[in-house]
Amino acid sequence: MLLEAKKIRKSYLLGDNTISILRGVDLTVAEGEFVSIMGTSGSGKSTLLYILGGLDTPDQGEYFFNERNMLALSDQDRSWIRAHWLGFVFQTFDLLSELDVVENISLPFLYNKTDSEQRDRQVMEAVEKVGLAHRRAHRPTELSGGEMQRVAIARALAINPKLILADEPTGNLDSRSSFDILNLFSELHKTGTTIIMVTHDKNVAAFSERTLNMADGYLK
Ligand SMILES: Nc1ncnc2c1ncn2[C@@H]1O[C@H](COP(=O)(O)OP(=O)(O)O)[C@@H](O)[C@H]1O
Ligand SMILES: [Mg+2]
Repeated sequence: MLLEAKKIRKSYLLGDNTISILRGVDLTVAEGEFVSIMGTSGSGKSTLLYILGGLDTPDQGEYFFNERNMLALSDQDRSWIRAHWLGFVFQTFDLLSELDVVENISLPFLYNKTDSEQRDRQVMEAVEKVGLAHRRAHRPTELSGGEMQRVAIARALAINPKLILADEPTGNLDSRSSFDILNLFSELHKTGTTIIMVTHDKNVAAFSERTLNMADGYLK
């Protein structure tokens, strides 16, 4: 298994109340899968995705990623795993407006010491995979929403991650661009990329090969 999470629990303190968001989530994902996690707003999807991405830690549970015990690692080792093995795609694209497409896609290499020739090769490969080679010197403001999300996907792909985590990747896109982005994920999946995608929309989840539902703190 690429990823194995067991009995993951997470609560937040809201005033005097403890709110249990994740109440014992189990999830296993094999290399090459395209899994979606569906659930209503506030059900804990992003919380779980952040834990899977090593950006947050649960209160209880076990989590192994690529045979590493993520919850026993130092912050430094977890950062290394994020920088080398994980790619993130968010609803808001999160591109830097003063940088062009290639520079945005190169950003993850600030934390990933790949030699510069290899890095440039991987960046160009990523730009080509998302079909934006002709836009590579453009700034984000010169791109459509769908193109911006393609840049964000290329940025996630550039390090050749073991897993892409996508949180509502089509949440800010019109239906045409959403369809294009979901087709791109399907294409990437067909060529071996492992993807976990969070969405509240069953039409979006339908593009994955396996859908799990988050409800009442559990994933089923
Ligand atoms: N840092 C936090 N502190 C307090 N409550 C939080 C925090 N992060 C998320 N929550 C709460 O946890 C619940 C689940 O949030 P989230 O994982 O973002 O849900 P989803 O992504 O499914 O919409 C929400 O009620 C949210 O308000
Ligand atoms: Mg969310």
